[in-house]
Amino acid sequence: MSDRPHEYHGPERVFSGVQPSGALHLGNYLGALKKFVTLQDRHDCLFCIVDLHAITVWQDPGDLADQTRHIAAAYLASGVDPGKAIIYAQSRVSAHTELAWYLNCVARIGWLNRMTQFRDKAGRNSERMSVGLYDYPVLQAADILAFKATHVPVGEDQKQHLELSRDIAAKFNNDFNVPGFFPLPEPLISGPGARIMSLRDGSGKMSKSDPSDMSRINLTDDADTIARKFRKAKTDPGVIPENPEALGDRPELANLIGIYAALADMSDQAVLEQYAGEGFGVFKPALAELAVEKLRPVTELMGRYLADPAEIDRILLCGADSADEIATPILAEVCDIIGFWKG
Ligand code: AMP
Ligand code: TRP
Repeated sequence: MSDRPHEYHGPERVFSGVQPSGALHLGNYLGALKKFVTLQDRHDCLFCIVDLHAITVWQDPGDLADQTRHIAAAYLASGVDPGKAIIYAQSRVSAHTELAWYLNCVARIGWLNRMTQFRDKAGRNSERMSVGLYDYPVLQAADILAFKATHVPVGEDQKQHLELSRDIAAKFNNDFNVPGFFPLPEPLISGPGARIMSLRDGSGKMSKSDPSDMSRINLTDDADTIARKFRKAKTDPGVIPENPEALGDRPELANLIGIYAALADMSDQAVLEQYAGEGFGVFKPALAELAVEKLRPVTELMGRYLADPAEIDRILLCGADSADEIATPILAEVCDIIGFWKG
């Protein structure tokens, strides 16, 4: 991974999280899960199911635990191995909420006011949103810093939140005069799949919250549904160009090429070379076939994991213990640095 030209000299550690707030889609798979799998072999990794983040908007109490198991099953089915990486639910490790409070007292209101995701989610209703939704990025910083994580694989939409995490880490180190105590975590965003767009609108990201199910490929979609969604995906009347520069003003095509490239581990250029001159009548079925080929094993395995919730629970409990072991001494140091009474 990249050099870290600042004062932190501790070990490298990877942290990321996914909210248990609805069905996972191709954007989550390509932007996050697929990257997790490639990182776990060479790095210490924690992959969290961020249920505390999920409850910043209403979640049905009767569904939340199962949604958490659903994300755990998706991690496992994508190839995250509990023997290599720590998989756990955020609410089971109290370091997250505890550190979030300390960091609330470091982060500035002006910084949070600049967060575009809050504005996008709240729209014109910001006065009626939960305080938690506003504070969401500070909890995210706490997730990362409770483990002194140095690298965070996420999709492009999380870039601003990661910048805030760095600002909070730097201000803590500076305010308390502990240079290099927290690392300044680096986002791992690059590569194909970092920003998968809606199939209905090349200018909006593929999202769980889009009211149109046709806008996204869900990890649980069957082969026919995947083929139908790609067939109906918005495109233009042109043919596939040879040159990636020609994608600049064709966002829907650029998205489909990007999806193909990410699924096949190819560059956009290589995909264009393969399909140059073809129309969508050829490209879309090929894309659907590739998506089915790559996603079907994940979907099938997810089903098998979900059929054995006790095994998922065992993995999550074991993961929570391991996460707790890492975070507890770090939180103790934070309390010392802040100067709390120890008795
Ligand atoms: P969320 O579902 O919001 O908890 O997101 C989980 C992970 O998926 C995060 O790393 C996001 O950045 C990533 N992600 C979500 N939507 C997309 C998308 N359309 N393209 C690429 N990555 C995404
Ligand atoms: N905000 C992230 C998302 O919606 C989820 C998340 C919470 C996260 N805490 C995190 C991602 C810490 C990376 C690191 O996608």
